[in-house]
Amino acid sequence: MKTCTICFANNKGGSGKSTTCSNIGYFLAASGKKVLLIDGDMQMNLTLSLFPEEEALAFAAGEKNLYAAIRKESDLADCIHSSAYENLDLIPSSTLMSGIEFDLFTKWQREYILKKGLQKIKDSGKYDYILIDAPPTLGGWVMNILAASDQLIIPVEASPWGLFGLSNMFEFLSEVKSVAPDLTVAGIVVTKVDGRKNYFKQTIETLQDLPAHLFETCIHLDSSIEWSQDNSKPVGKYRPSARSSKEYKALTEEVEKICR
Ligand SMILES: Nc1ncnc2c1ncn2[C@@H]1O[C@H](COP(=O)(O)OP(=O)(O)OP(=O)(O)O)[C@@H](O)[C@H]1O
Ligand SMILES: [Mg+2]
Repeated sequence: MKTCTICFANNKGGSGKSTTCSNIGYFLAASGKKVLLIDGDMQMNLTLSLFPEEEALAFAAGEKNLYAAIRKESDLADCIHSSAYENLDLIPSSTLMSGIEFDLFTKWQREYILKKGLQKIKDSGKYDYILIDAPPTLGGWVMNILAASDQLIIPVEASPWGLFGLSNMFEFLSEVKSVAPDLTVAGIVVTKVDGRKNYFKQTIETLQDLPAHLFETCIHLDSSIEWSQDNSKPVGKYRPSARSSKEYKALTEEVEKICR
């Protein structure tokens, strides 16, 4: 199988991008697929989902992180760290990543620095999946992430403000079409659903009107997610019986179909 690169992006903050990226990565790896996670956000949430704070900060302070490699335009293979889980590796982020737009500004072909940095890893065929977690912005760096990806998954929080930003996201996607002509919008996944509120039904109706696939599996609000993150573990490892764990497993099975 050719390496399938999937990014998780939405300019709306807190929509579940990092949580979804981490947990799908875990379940893909648990099913025997080779997975590389890439933390593209200065908040380092994807890194923290697998590593305790001290280790994450040590990655950020050193040279084996995404930001250091992008600045130097070097090969990303040198920044890969193995996680505690079989088949699951990570390229960590750095808090210094806040300056990335400035760093990109002077670079030749600046939309493709990430794509070029990933080329050798993709060509090596070592990974079945590369999953990239994007920050909650729309700009040159997110353009890099989209240009380096085959598929885009948009996590959307089931709330009025969760839906509000989505039109900006789709406008941005049409603007970047020339930069990322091969990118496919795999679909929208609804996250943080509060089963007690019937606003959820309205969210689904609104999303069904959009020209994008809606994943069947929705992720409900579940405190196990927060506990698992507090313990730097995917929820599937931390509490396999949790509702969100079962939902992320089912969502992963849906996601596996998009790259075939
Ligand atoms: N299903 C869930 N149940 C409970 N809490 C959740 C769930 N999903 C995510 N959260 C919490 O919501 C917050 C936002 O989630 P997450 O960090 O994954 O979103 P994000 O889109 O990556 O945010 P940002 O835009 O800041 O990068 C986190 O504190 C996370 O613990
Ligand atoms: Mg995030």
